[in-house]
Amino acid sequence: MPVQRTLILLKPDCVQRGLVSEALSRFERKGLRIVGMKLVKPTAEVAGKHYAEHSARPFFPSLLEFITSSPLVALALEGDSAVTVARNIIGATDGRAAAPGTIRGDFGLSKGNNLVHGSDSPESAERELGLWFPEGLVSYQRADTVWVETP
Ligand code: RTP
Ligand code: MG
Repeated sequence: MPVQRTLILLKPDCVQRGLVSEALSRFERKGLRIVGMKLVKPTAEVAGKHYAEHSARPFFPSLLEFITSSPLVALALEGDSAVTVARNIIGATDGRAAAPGTIRGDFGLSKGNNLVHGSDSPESAERELGLWFPEGLVSYQRADTVWVETP
């Protein structure tokens, strides 16, 4: 099983709605390790680089305005298959369609203000982690790893 890292953003709506601990606990209880965490009010430059793949889309200006409007929490998570596991916890893009039990499915009714971002591939994760955590990450083992990450 591959140990991966992924970049999570608890977006401005998640912070403003007081859902940071709720969202964080879902990743933490699953067994993913927090290897980086900080509150950031991103610059347009970082936000634009983060969502560069969407720069030609009609929603890009409003996406940048939203993501820079208020602080967010940037998280680096590590664990077995972390990229896919985190995306499954987050749920489908549109909160109205996202499955119950996912963060977006339980707390969202919007496609734009959808609470959480998660990297969509290990390659995206590497790029995004470099963008949000240029200072690097912290390595350690959680005491319960041997109980959680068992084949
Ligand atoms: P994310 O990148 O934030 O994890 O979300 P995602 O993979 O589920 O969705 P993606 O297609 O990458 O879209 C990135 C973010 O852009 C906003 N969006 N708005 N109004 C719209 O039609 C629309 N479509 C996308 C959302 O904030 C989405 O998470
Ligand atoms: Mg995406």
